[in-house]
Amino acid sequence: MSNSNTFFGHPIGLKTLFLTEMWERMSYYGMRALLVLYMTGAITGFNPGLGWSQVEAQAIYGIYVGLVYFMVVPGGWLADNILGHQKAVLIGAIIIALGHYTLAIPITQTFFLGLLLVVLGTGLLKGNISTIVGKLYDAGQDGKRDSGYTIFYMSINIGSTLGFLVCSFLGEKIGWHWGFGAAGIGMTFGVIQFIKSRHLLGDAGAAPNDMDDAKRAKLINYSRVTLIGMFFVIAAGLLGFFTIDPRYFAEQFAYFLTIVAGLYFLYLFIFAGLTATERRNLILLFVLFVGAAAFWSGFDQSAGSLNIFARDYTDLSVAGYIIPVGWLQFFNPIFVVVFAPIFAGVWANLAARNLDPSLPIKFAIGLLFMGLSFVVMLVAVELAMKSSPVGMQWLVLTYLFQTWGELALSPIGLSAFSRYSPKKYVGQMFGLWFLASAIGGVLAGLLGGEALGEGLDSISPVFNFMIKYYLVIAVILIVLSFVIKAKPKET
Ligand code: PHE
Repeated sequence: MSNSNTFFGHPIGLKTLFLTEMWERMSYYGMRALLVLYMTGAITGFNPGLGWSQVEAQAIYGIYVGLVYFMVVPGGWLADNILGHQKAVLIGAIIIALGHYTLAIPITQTFFLGLLLVVLGTGLLKGNISTIVGKLYDAGQDGKRDSGYTIFYMSINIGSTLGFLVCSFLGEKIGWHWGFGAAGIGMTFGVIQFIKSRHLLGDAGAAPNDMDDAKRAKLINYSRVTLIGMFFVIAAGLLGFFTIDPRYFAEQFAYFLTIVAGLYFLYLFIFAGLTATERRNLILLFVLFVGAAAFWSGFDQSAGSLNIFARDYTDLSVAGYIIPVGWLQFFNPIFVVVFAPIFAGVWANLAARNLDPSLPIKFAIGLLFMGLSFVVMLVAVELAMKSSPVGMQWLVLTYLFQTWGELALSPIGLSAFSRYSPKKYVGQMFGLWFLASAIGGVLAGLLGGEALGEGLDSISPVFNFMIKYYLVIAVILIVLSFVIKAKPKET
C-alpha cells in the first residue's frame, strides 16, 4: 500500500485494526472473567449472583466460548460472499456492544439474550478482522505479514489486560452489571474508533468476493431465510418454549463440532481436487488441529475452573487489600507481552542454525507446558486440601506455563494455517483454526464442571486425566514428526 503514514513500519490500516481488536478483546475477556463468578455467585449478599451449580455454570461457559468461535465460520462466509470484511467487522462490533449493554441490565431474563448477541457479533468480527490484517500486505510479503500478526497479537493481550483490570474490579467490587456495562463501553470506543479510522484500511477487505449478481442474490436469500429461522428458534428458546440441559447440550455440541471439523477435513482431502503436496500439508494441519483443540481445552479453564479456584481456595490479599478474583487472569496477557519476543527470538535463532523444531514438535512443546501447568495445579489442590486458602503463586505459575505453551503453539499454528492451506481454501481453513478453539472451549466447560462438581475432592482426578491426555497427544505428535519427515511446502 502506498501510504506515507505507517504504524510501527507497517501499513497504517494496522492501527485501525489494532485498536478495534484491542477494545473487542477488552470487552470479551473482561466480561468472560465475570461470567462463571456471576452465574455461581450466591443469590443473596451485596452483589447477588445467579446461584447456579458449578456443573451448569461451567457448561454454559463452555457452550458460550464454543459458540463464539464456532460462529467465526458463518461470519467468515458472510463477509466473503455478501458483506465484505470491513462491514462485517463494523456490524459485529455494534452487535457485541449491544450484547454487553444487554448484560448490564440488572435482570436475569435478558442474560442469555446478552450472551447470544456477543456470540453473534464476535462471529462477525473476530475472524474477519484477522483476515483484513493479512490483506494489508501484498503477496510475497510473508515475513512482514507475520510480524504484522505479531503486533496484532499484542493488541489482543493489551486489550484483555485492560478488560480484566476494569471489568473485574467494577463487576466484583461494585456490582456484576457494572462490569458488563464497562465491557459495553469499551466496545463502543472500539466502534467509534473503527468508524473514524476505517478509511485508513483503503480497499483491504472492503468488498466481498467477485460473483455474478444472480448468484449473490441467491446467497443473500439463503442467508435471510437462515437468519429468520435462527431468530425464531432463539426467540422460542428465550421465551421458554423449550429448555436445554446445559451439560447435555455442551456434550452434544462437542460431538457436533468434532464431526463437522472431521468431515470438512475429509471433504477437502477427498473431493477438493488437491495436489499430492496440498494433501500432505492437509494431513499435517489436521494433526495440528487436534493438538490445538486439546490445548485450548486446558487454556480456556482460566475463566472457568481456575477462576473458581482463585475465588474459593486462593488467598487474594495484597498488602491488606483483597484483589478482584479476575485480576489473576491478567498474568496470561502480561506474560505474552513479556515472552513473545523471547520465543520469537529463540525460534529465529534455532532456524538460523538449522535446528528449528518442526511444527508438530512445537505443538508438542505447547501441550507439555499445558500439562505442566496442571501439575502445578495438582500441587496447589493438594495444599488446599490440607489448608485453604493457598497463596497466589500457584495460579501465577500455572498461567506462566500455559502462556509458554500458548507461545509455542498459537502464533505458529495461525501462520501454518495461512501458509500451508490449499490456496483456494485459506479463508475456510482459518475457520477450521477457530473451530479448534471452539472444541477446546466446550471441552474446557465440561472438564471444568466435572472438576468442580464435588468441590476440591473432584478436581485432582480431572486434572490428572488432562495431564495424561496432554502427554499422550504430545507423544503422538513427536512420533508423527518423525513419520512426516518431509517439510511442508508452500503451494
Ligand atoms: N488470546 C487469543 C485471542 O483471544 C486466544 C485465541 C487464539 C483465541 C486463537 C482464538 C483463536 O485471540
